[in-house]
Amino acid sequence: MTETRRRVFSGIQPSGDVHLGNYLGAIKNWVELTERYESIYCIVDLHAITIPYEPEELHDRVLDLAVALIASGLEADRCTLFVQSHVPEHAELAWLLNTVTPLGDLQRMTQFKEKSERIKAVSAGLLNYPVLQAADILLYRADLVPVGEDQRQHLELTREIARRWNARYGELFPEPDALIGPGRRVLGLDGVSKMSKSQNNVIPLLATPEELDAIVRTAVTDPARVARVDPGNPNVCNVFALHRVFSSPAEVEEIEIRCQTAGIGCVECKRLLAGNIADELAPVRERALELRERPDLVREVLHEGAERARVIARETLAEAYDRMGLRRNMAPTPAAPAAPAPAATPDPA
Ligand code: TYM
Repeated sequence: MTETRRRVFSGIQPSGDVHLGNYLGAIKNWVELTERYESIYCIVDLHAITIPYEPEELHDRVLDLAVALIASGLEADRCTLFVQSHVPEHAELAWLLNTVTPLGDLQRMTQFKEKSERIKAVSAGLLNYPVLQAADILLYRADLVPVGEDQRQHLELTREIARRWNARYGELFPEPDALIGPGRRVLGLDGVSKMSKSQNNVIPLLATPEELDAIVRTAVTDPARVARVDPGNPNVCNVFALHRVFSSPAEVEEIEIRCQTAGIGCVECKRLLAGNIADELAPVRERALELRERPDLVREVLHEGAERARVIARETLAEAYDRMGLRRNMAPTPAAPAAPAPAATPDPA
């Protein structure tokens, strides 16, 4: 008997270099989940155009992101990986879901408020961003959505939209659960705000060892530790938090003690961290270099992924249209076969 596996869906924007926040908060978890679940992952280019962007750069960004994702372990035989705009059903379902989404809920979204403060001309697309995200998830009737902490509110809204739609048109969409992994909120180089492309505080996933060394050197450590001879407090230091992820338990223990006793300075501590990040990510970087030489292979993965995704997407969308009373088939019904002519009765003589 074949058991239907539960389905996982998640998305990532092609809006800059993939960074350690994306990797630890989402991608690493996505790869692990492919072992246990039917996994569908999407490069959400339609989301990326809701804030100012360069059209000439978008296509390359999509391909670069695909390279990073495949290199991280999301190969075509483990999951379905595709680009959102290649499956037009996302935008169509988003429109249908807009009709059951209260305006006030969208205006209350924290990410909308944050982004609108940074942008001069706020578009309706930015406001409706979470509805498109709900469409992404509900189109595949996903059970689980692995994301970082910053997406929790969008997931709650997705559940609310599913509830409202189901109440009005009948049960179709399962309410998906957010799956928040261990790297739920990775801090940036400033050690204060979330690591984010828009904050300019990221450690890129595919940086070379030399680049990593230079970037990590700029990280803020315990602000109270002014001089090399001052003891530090690892618990308030983001460099130490990253050591916990990338260094061995024995090394972490040693660094903790040496920091507290001023036995190690921040410069050396950062150099060790940069080396450990470089070592752990070396296989990803090497695979990415190979994939960059083979853009046709990357395109093929995305093409096949979209074909696979569309099979599910079409089915869900057709059902949603139908339940909402939108009958799209206006082809004339085939004419009924002509009735056989009555047998000719001979004229009476
Ligand atoms: P995006 O592109 O900003 O980020 C992709 C994933 O990376 C996680 N993440 C982080 N996790 C921990 N610490 C950080 N500093 C950090 N920065 C980013 C995010 O939580 C996310 O899981 N709206 C989404 C994309 C999206 C989506 C979807 C996600 C569109 N449709 C459907 C899930 C399901 C976003 O902007 O992610």
